[in-house]
Amino acid sequence: MARRMLIAGNWKMNGLQAARDEAGRLVEALGGRAPDDADVLICPPATLLADMARDLDGSGLLVGGQDCHAEARGAHTGDVSAEMAADAGASHVIVGHSERRADHGETDEMVREKAAAALRAGLTPVICVGETLADRDAGRAEEIVSAQIRGSTPGSVDAAGLVIAYEPVWAIGTGRTASSADIAAMHAAARAALAAVKGADAGAAVRILYGGSVKPDNAAAILAIDGVDGALVGGASLAAADFHAIIAARPRPG
Ligand code: PGA
Repeated sequence: MARRMLIAGNWKMNGLQAARDEAGRLVEALGGRAPDDADVLICPPATLLADMARDLDGSGLLVGGQDCHAEARGAHTGDVSAEMAADAGASHVIVGHSERRADHGETDEMVREKAAAALRAGLTPVICVGETLADRDAGRAEEIVSAQIRGSTPGSVDAAGLVIAYEPVWAIGTGRTASSADIAAMHAAARAALAAVKGADAGAAVRILYGGSVKPDNAAAILAIDGVDGALVGGASLAAADFHAIIAARPRPG
């Protein structure tokens, strides 16, 4: 099944007002519009979401949140709900990023509830999974990632509305990337786990992104791997020129 590429930038806790200019430079580099054959998403910090949604209105570029609370509203100081992100103009929200799993103790169950909250608010959740180096060294990478997918994916929803990001924890921000063979094997395992949860058709429809030190110089090779439907890019999404080079490295349909 042909799946549309999604190139997503995760700015993490980077970006003051001036960073909006960087998004403007990206739109310029793209010739004023998102490409016809792929989706481009930027997930800035929550403080920039509404401004960037306005800045990018009409360009076809999408904006997303980096996390959401499982509830729509309430006494949860400091949290942002999926409804709030949607209200600010987001179309997507990252949930279960390994930094949140590590820094905030987020479990698969919590991630599943956040993904369900995103769907309830009309957002597409980008559900992150990935093994640690210890998991990989123990030969357990596929098992761990498959279990994360089973545990973090809401069962009762249309799978076409989900995105999965496979990000080996040891490859994030380290300059190390998994080998092409490992990425292909992990994406196949992730898709099989999805098909087991959601059925074969749904499993085939979900986009699975690769993330972890995707850069201009390795993007073409990574995006060409069978089963890779795009990238979740951290550090290299902060500079328009780098992110544009990654977007330009995608394989073109036909
Ligand atoms: P990186 O981050 O590209 O800086 O490795 C990827 C991510 O954490 O989503």
